Amino acid sequence: AWGQFDTLRRDSPVHWTPSSLGDGYWSVTRYADIATVDRDPATFTSMKFVNLEDVDDDLQDLRRSILETDGTRHTALRKLIQREFSARNLRQYEDFLRGLTRVTVDNALALGGFDFVKEVSADFPIQVLARLLDVPESDTGQLIDWGNQLIGNTDPDYSEFLLTDPGSDRYKHLPFRSPASIEVFEYGRELARERRGGDGRDLVSVLVNRVPEDGEPLTATDFDNYFLLLVVAGNETTRHTISHAMHALISNPAQLALLRDQPELIPGAVEEFLRWASPVYHFRRTATRDVELGGKQIREGDKVVMWFASGNRDDTVFDDPYRFDVTRKNVDHLSFGRGGPHLCLGNSLARLEIRLMFEELIPRITDAHLDGEVRRVRSNFVNGIKTLPVRLTPA
Ligand code: HEM
Repeated sequence: AWGQFDTLRRDSPVHWTPSSLGDGYWSVTRYADIATVDRDPATFTSMKFVNLEDVDDDLQDLRRSILETDGTRHTALRKLIQREFSARNLRQYEDFLRGLTRVTVDNALALGGFDFVKEVSADFPIQVLARLLDVPESDTGQLIDWGNQLIGNTDPDYSEFLLTDPGSDRYKHLPFRSPASIEVFEYGRELARERRGGDGRDLVSVLVNRVPEDGEPLTATDFDNYFLLLVVAGNETTRHTISHAMHALISNPAQLALLRDQPELIPGAVEEFLRWASPVYHFRRTATRDVELGGKQIREGDKVVMWFASGNRDDTVFDDPYRFDVTRKNVDHLSFGRGGPHLCLGNSLARLEIRLMFEELIPRITDAHLDGEVRRVRSNFVNGIKTLPVRLTPA
C-alpha cells in the first residue's frame, strides 16, 4: 500500500475511493490535510463511526464509545479517566512494567530462536492493561484472545467469525456482535458489579464510581463500550509497534548497534518506531456540511478517511521518509492522531511500554537476525505483524 499512498499524495491527495464495504469514501493522504480533518470535529464528525465499514443506525448508539462521541459528552467521558493515563500517574507503574519486560526478555532470550511476536510483543501490552484493570494475571490469556478477535477480525487466523462476504449484514455488525465482544461485555460487567461503591483506584472502579463532569453517570451501555475500547485500543497497537521496531532494527544493524552504545537515544527512537510502524492505518470521519478539502468538493454525509500511515511517509514533513533513522529529530508523527480531541488517550502508556521494552532488550543482545518468514496481519485497520521469527544473540 505504501506505493499507492505515495501516488495519491502526489497526484490526488484527497481522492474519491469506491469501496466494497459500503459507499465510497474520500481518502486523505497528505499530512497537512489529515491534521485539518482531525482538528475540526464540527465539520468532520466521529458520531457516524470511525472505521471504513458502515454501521447500522440501530447499532450506533448501542455501540458508541468515546471514539464515536463528539462535543461536551466526549470531553466529560475522556476526562473521567484522563488522569489515570497521564505520564505523571503512570510513573507509579514504571518499576512493575520494567520488571515485566525483564522477565519477558530473559525468557525469550533463553530460547535462542523464537517468534518475537509470540514470546515478546503479544502478551506484554495486555499484561499491562490487566494491571491497570487490576484483574488476575491468569485472565490475561483470555484478554489477549478477545483482543485479537476484536481488532484482527478480517484475518482468518484470528477470527472464526471471519466475514468472507463484505456485503453481508453480518459484516456490517462486526465487531459489535461478535462472540468475543459479548464475552468481553460480560467479563467487564462482572468486574463492575464487584467494584461498584468500593474505593478501588483501578480503571474499572474509576469508571463505575466517578461521575463525569457533565453530571451524567455512565449508562450500562457507556460502560460496556468504554471497557471494550480499553481492552482493544492498547493491545494490538502497542504489540505491532514493538514488533515493527524489532524488525526495523534487525534490518538496520548499525542502528541497533548505535542504540546499544548510546541507550540515552532510546526515548527519542521510540517516536521513530511509532512513525515507522504506523500501527493504525486509518480513522474515518463524516462531513457534517459541504466543504472543500485539497481542491475537492466534499458533500455533507460523505465519509472522509485519514490515512495516518500515509501522512507518516509525507516527504514534505519527514526528510527521506522511507529511511528508518533512530536519530531523527522532532518526529511529529500521526500514529496517535494529529492533535484533535480524540488524540490517543493511551499515548503516554504506549510510549512508556515501548521505551521500557527496548531499554531492557537492547543491552541484552549483541546480534539480531531474521530466522524465517515474516507474516503480516490481514487488516485494513491495523498494520500488524503476525509472526516474526528471530534469532537474538544474548550479550
Ligand atoms: C485513540 C493509536 C495505544 C487508548 C487512538 C487514536 C489513535 C490511536 C490513532 C485516535 C486518534 C484520533 O482520532 O485523533 C494508538 C497507538 C497505540 C495506542 C498507535 C500504541 C502504539 C493505546 C493504549 C491505550 C489507548 C495503550 C489504553 C490502554 C485509546 C483510547 C482512544 C484512543 C481510549 C480514544 C480517545 C478518544 O476518542 O478521545 N489511539 N493507540 N491507546 N486510544 Fe490509542
